Amino acid sequence: MSEPRVAIYPGSFDPITNGHLDLIRRASRQFEDLIVAVLKHDTKRAEFPLGERLDMIREAVAGLSNVRVGSFDGLLVDYARAQGASLILRGIRAVSDYEYELQMALMNRKLAPEIETVFMLPGEAYSYLSSRLVKEVCRHGGRIDDLVPPMVANRLCAERVAGSDNV
Ligand code: PNS
Repeated sequence: MSEPRVAIYPGSFDPITNGHLDLIRRASRQFEDLIVAVLKHDTKRAEFPLGERLDMIREAVAGLSNVRVGSFDGLLVDYARAQGASLILRGIRAVSDYEYELQMALMNRKLAPEIETVFMLPGEAYSYLSSRLVKEVCRHGGRIDDLVPPMVANRLCAERVAGSDNV
């Protein structure tokens, strides 16, 4: 019997959105073992500490038995190798994502030629959705409850309320 194919879906997930979740669900039907991998130390300042990002993802994927959640530091390809993954999964929402994704995929291929990057499209209903925009909409009091899983909406709202106390 052939080895199960392990795929890694890396990102900042700050926080996870329904677009990420849609991609995870689609990918969980294609790969035997899927690891959602959160970057520990990003150059961008994170809204949520790593532990909270992991908790929110774990809760959101709880029903998917072949999906695991992890975190990594350093090079993605080193983490992929350590996990025995042969695939890196990334979502492409629109043409504007392509250039950044192409650069990353080619750099990862240069570093680890045995690992393939595969791209999948999230549902078109999520093509405009990003963690950055969700945070911005929430910060200004807009509705986000149909853009993110419920616990993410609750945590973002709680942060907004706590933040407004300080003004
Ligand atoms: O959600 P993001 O911010 O688009 O995810 C970017 C991520 C985490 C996939 C990327 O920054 C990454 O892989 N960082 C790890 C460092 C690395 O391996 N860099 C070289 C390959 S481009």
